[in-house]
Amino acid sequence: MTRPTEDLATPTSIGYRAGGGGGLPLSVWPTAQQTARVQRAGRYLPESTAHPAKMLPAIARHAIAAYTQPGELVVDPMCGIGTTLVEAAHLGRYAIGVEYEPRWAELARANLAHASGQGAPGGGRVLHGDARRLTSLLNPDLVGRVALVLTSPPYGSSVHGQAKAEPGRGVAKWHDRYGSDPTNLAHASLPALLAAMGEILAECGAVLRPGGLVVLTARPWRRRELLVDFPGALAGVAEHAGLVAFERNVALLVGLRDQRLVPRPSFFQLDLVRKARARGLPLRIIAHEDVLVLRRPHPVAPAARTPSGQPGSPDGQSASERGAAPPLHRDRTGPRGSGRRDQG
Ligand SMILES: C[S@@+](CC[C@H](N)C(=O)[O-])C[C@H]1O[C@@H](n2cnc3c(N)ncnc32)[C@H](O)[C@@H]1O
Repeated sequence: MTRPTEDLATPTSIGYRAGGGGGLPLSVWPTAQQTARVQRAGRYLPESTAHPAKMLPAIARHAIAAYTQPGELVVDPMCGIGTTLVEAAHLGRYAIGVEYEPRWAELARANLAHASGQGAPGGGRVLHGDARRLTSLLNPDLVGRVALVLTSPPYGSSVHGQAKAEPGRGVAKWHDRYGSDPTNLAHASLPALLAAMGEILAECGAVLRPGGLVVLTARPWRRRELLVDFPGALAGVAEHAGLVAFERNVALLVGLRDQRLVPRPSFFQLDLVRKARARGLPLRIIAHEDVLVLRRPHPVAPAARTPSGQPGSPDGQSASERGAAPPLHRDRTGPRGSGRRDQG
């Protein structure tokens, strides 16, 4: 049995927590039919391998195709080597990335140029800076016009990087740090990281157009064999920042081969689970990434206020917007009636 290692001290989350997901739609995205290496081959510059925690290209592709239309604007406030930007460009979207470490910002620019050289119909820009100041980094004309924010938060070096077990010599690790700057959020304690994520998500809400979406991909991890429910804590922080739960999905880190599921866990996962099992603890491998989808609420129209002056809907939508369909499902076709297309 797994249980959280610690009280993550996050605000109560109505949409995600009530009833184990609050009745939100859930779907499973088959994003690891190919390994990460195969997904990146030729599409990203080889130097990209050095980044310790890249998003799977298929996750980015799936989210962008499902929630935006060609020509729309996508932002990744912690863009690393630019997976969101590259996939957006290939899908004919325009993307802006922010990255704290100059090294990765430069590589994200180079990956975008590479995509453009391969004929990607969209494009993008990379800004070097702190995601906590996203609104001041973006061109003011773009604030409030972003269709989708897609990002994955930084974790500490215990859960990622490149590693190899060498018989008799232990584990060799490399590329397990984003950089040496101690103010990079990857070096923050869990409570500090969550607090910073609150600031970043409030900024994301501000750059989105009303009804625009934030997609966060995050993995739970284990500390001393106990589960740290980072995605759950992140969901609470996001709702506290004013975003509204929209969907909770699972990106499957599993391939299907000859009708068998082939898990693609990280080295760290495998190592921990093997050691725990050797001690008789029947841990299971985590073979998914949580994909939290949140929405910037529409402004509350005066007509939607109750006689007491309170908004008439918990997600801030007006009575006329609620229309015939039930609340959380009313705009299932997407912010502009775009419809969902699975291209992962
Ligand atoms: C999980 S990685 C994102 C990887 C990215 N999705 C990709 O595929 O390359 C998180 C990134 O956040 C960056 N980061 C950390 N603190 C930041 C901050 N305050 N503002 C912007 N980026 C930050 C890290 O340097 C790291 O590259």
